[in-house]
Amino acid sequence: MPTSAWACISVKTHVHADVDMAHIPERYTFPPLSHVLTSSPTTPHSELRTPHFPLSCYVHVPFCVHRCGYCNFTLVARREDLIPRYLDAVERELATHGEPSAVETLFFGGGTPTHLPPAALERLCQSALRQFPLLPGYEWSVEANPADLDTERIAVLREQGVTRVSLGVQSFSAEKLSLLERDHRADDIRRAVDLLRPWVKSLAIDLIFGAPGETLADWESDLRQALTLEPDHVSTYGLTFERGTTFWGRKLRGELRVAEESDERAMYETAIDTLTAAGFEHYEVSNFARPGHRCRHNECYWDGREYFAIGPGAARYVAGRREINHRSTTTYIERVLGGRSPVADGETLSPVDRAREAFVFGMRRLRGVHLPEFAERYGVDPRRLFAAQLAKYVQLGMFVQQGDWVRLTRPGLLVSDAIWPDFLA
Ligand SMILES: C[S@@+](CC[C@H](N)C(=O)[O-])C[C@H]1O[C@@H](n2cnc3c(N)ncnc32)[C@H](O)[C@@H]1O
Ligand code: SF4
Repeated sequence: MPTSAWACISVKTHVHADVDMAHIPERYTFPPLSHVLTSSPTTPHSELRTPHFPLSCYVHVPFCVHRCGYCNFTLVARREDLIPRYLDAVERELATHGEPSAVETLFFGGGTPTHLPPAALERLCQSALRQFPLLPGYEWSVEANPADLDTERIAVLREQGVTRVSLGVQSFSAEKLSLLERDHRADDIRRAVDLLRPWVKSLAIDLIFGAPGETLADWESDLRQALTLEPDHVSTYGLTFERGTTFWGRKLRGELRVAEESDERAMYETAIDTLTAAGFEHYEVSNFARPGHRCRHNECYWDGREYFAIGPGAARYVAGRREINHRSTTTYIERVLGGRSPVADGETLSPVDRAREAFVFGMRRLRGVHLPEFAERYGVDPRRLFAAQLAKYVQLGMFVQQGDWVRLTRPGLLVSDAIWPDFLA
């Protein structure tokens, strides 16, 4: 059983984690790059690596205007002075990867990538593309805060070839946004969507439910308003109180009341019913997509494939090894610019531990896990390794086994956070 922080991070259910980790034991075989490379924005074919390298890359941008009270992500607030050295460090780290390696998915996450001034954002895009040029049909996601998006930043994203923008909407209610310590208002959301809609291929939004004092009616109103934006993808996250956040302290002091579990479940079920009725596919515990708009980058994690990662706190899975960079932005910068490795920790999992994590990742997807295929891929048969757990959760009605597939049922979905430790222990 993996005992590192990764195991905890990777099994969170309702909350986006900035360091999702996953892995597979074997290499993939892909068609020769020369057959599939696009002309732009890429590097000459001869300079590219062979295709057994990961086909996804995550770039962490650790800047925000301020830290929202609930957020424990790797970031610095009001440290714009660090941006030039952060960009230098990212370029140095990118250069350590050697020859350019073409990818199918690129993801700029944060923090808030769109907090970077336009010129800095452009430089980051160009640096990333030099090392990780994009294959045809690529997906390039950028996380954005509604308050930051302006015509100049939009122009950069558009010109650089970004295809997917993930907007941190969270809510439309002034009261809830203020409680969450967000710096945007409902008007900013609509303005940002108006700027994005004309060109972006996929518009994704994040919503939070279960804020202190929030009622089911409040949440229904958020969902209704979200649908009026006509997003292509919606992520719904139950508010979690993370250790080290101001919300954590306020909860301990009794200033903030955690939502009742039954209320949270009702909100989650309402999200499932509302979004699926509106034509979204519920394809992962927290994620809903219109046909053709699943997040392919995140699917790489849930599918246990490998990926590169750059930046402070960024976690990668390359050549069977998982590594995580230093979380402190200043330490990251100092180490990289000082010619030292940004890596804070790393591990290579045993085949059984790898199978345990991959099974949990796979089960987060609504389609579930194909048992014989899993056994073949990981060299560990889940019907044997998890015989007792599978019997238990099928009997409890949390899992259903149909032919070769096992997947979560609706009751299982509602409590899946509590199930996973049984498979990791
Ligand atoms: C990196 S942020 C998105 C981009 C941008 N920084 C923003 O917030 O608008 C990723 C998402 O994680 C979710 N999130 C972060 N911390 C959370 C928490 N403690 N509970 C629930 N959701 C959380 C929020 O929905 C947020 O949109
Ligand atoms: S803006 Fe996003 S990344 Fe920044 S503190 Fe708020 S939720 Fe976290």
